[in-house]
Amino acid sequence: MQRSKSKVKDKGAGKAKEKIVLAYSGGLDTLVAIRWLEERHDLEVVAVSIDVGQPGDMKANIERAKGIGAVSAYAVDAKQEFAEEYVWPALKANAMYQGAYPLSTAIARPLIAKILVDVARKEGAQFIAHGCTAKGNDQVRFDVSIGALAPELGIIAPMREWVMTREEEIDYAKNNDIPIPVKKACPYSTDENLWGRSCECGILEDASQEPPEDSRAWTVSPQKAPNKPTYVEIGFEKGIPVSLDGEKLGPVELIVRLNELAGANGVGRIDHVEDRLVGIKSRETYECPAAVTLIKAHQSLEGMVLTKDVLSYKRGAEQRYSELTYDGYWFSPLREALDAFMDKTQEFVTGTVRVKLYRGNADVVGRSSPYSLYNEGLATYAKGDEFDHTSAKGFIYVWGLPLRTVASAYKVEEPAAKAASKAPAKKPSKKGKA
Ligand code: ARG
Repeated sequence: MQRSKSKVKDKGAGKAKEKIVLAYSGGLDTLVAIRWLEERHDLEVVAVSIDVGQPGDMKANIERAKGIGAVSAYAVDAKQEFAEEYVWPALKANAMYQGAYPLSTAIARPLIAKILVDVARKEGAQFIAHGCTAKGNDQVRFDVSIGALAPELGIIAPMREWVMTREEEIDYAKNNDIPIPVKKACPYSTDENLWGRSCECGILEDASQEPPEDSRAWTVSPQKAPNKPTYVEIGFEKGIPVSLDGEKLGPVELIVRLNELAGANGVGRIDHVEDRLVGIKSRETYECPAAVTLIKAHQSLEGMVLTKDVLSYKRGAEQRYSELTYDGYWFSPLREALDAFMDKTQEFVTGTVRVKLYRGNADVVGRSSPYSLYNEGLATYAKGDEFDHTSAKGFIYVWGLPLRTVASAYKVEEPAAKAASKAPAKKPSKKGKA
């Protein structure tokens, strides 16, 4: 760790303390971390709460942080930036880790890291702290992103260092007059933002068991969803959703509304055994109603507008994009280069997609685009067919030529013929030869 010695330090007579910027959620872990960082590392703590669309009262959180001893506390509304700079690029790439997880938690981490770095620079802080444990992906995403943006800053992750159980944390809080957040005891570990809700731990660790209903919060059970479909028409411009049912909406509102609409129809439940970057397979559950609906709609529009070769090449790039995002490489040259590729592919991804939300399913049931490559005149088997039937035979002659060539060149000998050819050749009679 490059610990640039503080400019704040050694100023005048008194030694000023060094500062640390803490990613602060208002939960027990980061509340305890404020006091722990002061005591253990003798640092001044600046608490930063970042709103990426999760529930909670930011203002109350901030006041609580100050009450515990944070020298200053910020509440940053990052929803718009999150939607425009992180969610939309991920959508253009149809980003789904291992084909299942829309990377909701993973794409918020680099943004949070960026905001922490901004605050650290503004505050002249030397360190950044986050509340991640040593077993997850998020610690990697934070550390790698901070390192990419500000390699001069040191990183402290209290929960990787301290060895407190939850009960011990509660005792620590009681002994240090830290108000324990009054929250209904939740048997799971959750993370929420506009793009989805992640939920793990507790009974969910038994991968053979169906996730209980109490682990779900954004979606109704498909069994209890209305027995009548909800149709929604999503308007896209250059790969980005811009309207719902003809009404122009900003990104945050569009995502929030679609989460509600799709969630009410039981859409977006995901149950996945996933490969963490740290080598562990873990059972993760998600609720991503808007993400699942938008990715399906977007893919369907792309299928109509993009050429076969762009679609095929893009699928490979999408997988790479998803993996690097999952693995904490958001602020990397490869992600930037892939984004440039994705943007180019989206130039004509404009149009409308009609989706039927019904009992856990989001099915695309119609799509149209001014740039559609789908030509009914060419596709139809009915009257009005424009396809030139006479060219089919010639095309197939050329298309099949390589394989006919192979068939005549790669002659495999029959076993009998092989045996015969291996038998010693009859000696030519000397006589004959002479
Ligand atoms: N497995 C997901 C990921 O690595 C989600 C982690 C979410 N964290 C949580 N506390 N539930 O991106």
